[in-house]
Amino acid sequence: MDNRTNTIAGWVLGAGIVALGTTIVTGEMFHAERPEKMGYPIEGVTGAEEKGGAAAEQPAAFYLASADPKLGEQVFKKCTACHTAAKGGANGTGPDLWGVVGGPIGHHAAGFAYSPALGGKGGNWDWDSLFHWLKSPRDFAPGTKMTFAGLSKPEDRANVIAYLNTMSDAPKPLPAAPAAAANPAAAAAEQADQGAQGDKAKDQPVLTEAQATPGKNVKDQAAPSVDGRAAQTKK
Ligand code: HEC
Repeated sequence: MDNRTNTIAGWVLGAGIVALGTTIVTGEMFHAERPEKMGYPIEGVTGAEEKGGAAAEQPAAFYLASADPKLGEQVFKKCTACHTAAKGGANGTGPDLWGVVGGPIGHHAAGFAYSPALGGKGGNWDWDSLFHWLKSPRDFAPGTKMTFAGLSKPEDRANVIAYLNTMSDAPKPLPAAPAAAANPAAAAAEQADQGAQGDKAKDQPVLTEAQATPGKNVKDQAAPSVDGRAAQTKK
């Protein structure tokens, strides 16, 4: 009798373990995680590609120095749904853009109802502000009425700005390329920085070992890892 009770208890316990195991395993298998980012970014609509592009981008003058107004006129076709750039041109969905380069931001076209976002910016349009605005109007003036995602290619922006510059009573000279030395200098500075870090790493083992001496175990463990780091930075 006692034996049988034990057997039954054993089966019950066993079944319980199997059930629990199954729950854990299926739970792992069918575990659904909420994606970090919902949905799919659509190019030109979400502006999601801006981040990647920004990293390698040069300042406006770099592109403007070799900008071509003729190519800019082609790019401007993307703008003509809302803009004219002719002298005395009519305001449409967007303001007429004659003489906009150097004009007051959000005020240059008479009779156009600008959004407070752009109208309240202040200052005049210069190369840098136009470059920023055309990259992402929303980023330059959050709440703007210009529902245009922006031109992700810096060359397109430079060309269209060069074109708009010609649509003016007083076109301005395009900026010269930023001193070519600026970039090598930056690179050299970076290298120097890395060199300094390397020196520090070389000095470090002495310091760390001295600190670690009281605890023998800690010392033994710490030494190889410090050596490893020094070896890495030396490369
Ligand atoms: C969907 C319509 C639309 C398109 C397309 C569009 N814009 Fe605009 N644009 C606007 C509107 C609307 C404003 C006014 C924004 C505000 O008041 O917030 C504006 C303002 C501007 C301004 C500022 C004008 C000022 O007086 O300060 C510039 C410069 C400009 N647009 C250039 C461009 C260029 C260049 C393109 C093409 C690459 C373009 N826009 C495409 C609608 C558009």
